[in-house]
Amino acid sequence: MSATTHKPRREAPVLLKVDDLHVAYGKAEVVHGVSFEVREGEFAVMLGRNGAGKSTSLHAICGLIPKRSGRVSFGGQDISSTDPRSIVNSGIVNVLEGHRIFTTLTIEDNLLLGTYAKNSRGDRSKLDRIYSIFPEMAERRHQLASRLSGGQQQILAVAQGMIGEPRLLILDEPSAGLAPLVIDRILQIAADLARGGTAILLVEQLVEKALRHADYAFLMANGKIAASATPEELHSSDLIQRILVGSHEAN
Ligand SMILES: Nc1ncnc2c1ncn2[C@@H]1O[C@H](COP(=O)(O)OP(=O)(O)O)[C@@H](O)[C@H]1O
Ligand SMILES: [Mg+2]
Repeated sequence: MSATTHKPRREAPVLLKVDDLHVAYGKAEVVHGVSFEVREGEFAVMLGRNGAGKSTSLHAICGLIPKRSGRVSFGGQDISSTDPRSIVNSGIVNVLEGHRIFTTLTIEDNLLLGTYAKNSRGDRSKLDRIYSIFPEMAERRHQLASRLSGGQQQILAVAQGMIGEPRLLILDEPSAGLAPLVIDRILQIAADLARGGTAILLVEQLVEKALRHADYAFLMANGKIAASATPEELHSSDLIQRILVGSHEAN
């Protein structure tokens, strides 16, 4: 497989397969039978308004909250009942909404935390690659993460997700509240990872920006997948206008 060309949707093997996922908080079901697939090395984007059920679905896929029903498989293995740490070990990392890094730890210790699922003492051999991608983190490696700006903290969260070299990196609204240049950088990093063979599942409110990089998009509404299509298909239908209405980018 060429690492430099984007593959059409149906060529790469399925990596993540979510089948009829239902998730509830107590008695209130908020995810009502979600099914979708992410293929190897694909840059997939999940769109949808606040409260649509995106984060809930992703938490359930990663075993962080219980599923009411449904099946999830990854790389051909059923992970529907697998514990979160083993799911990370199998190659899914979810960079959660709201850049949850540890501000009382140094930048380097935050990065090492991203290697703990595979190596309980931390794997320092992974640091060099990350520092070459993020030289500003290398310079400040021994500083407390609390000293970073919001944008830098979010980049650290993405770097912490990348350091374990997942096969699927989930980025849940990484750009929320950030300056346009930082957003562009994060999206570019994700696109570069996808070109290198890491599948990306990005949740993003900035529809047009996200679609520029995406191979495939899912639209979630009211706990269901309302549409799934390539960016070209979205643009050539009236769907994109319906998605943009109410988004931050409507213009
Ligand atoms: N911890 C929780 N307890 C109860 N309800 C929740 C919780 N988290 C989210 N919800 C509700 O579940 C629905 C889906 O939320 P969420 O998955 O966060 O949506 P999105 O990520 O698409 O914005 C919303 O109605 C939200 O209020
Ligand atoms: Mg969310």
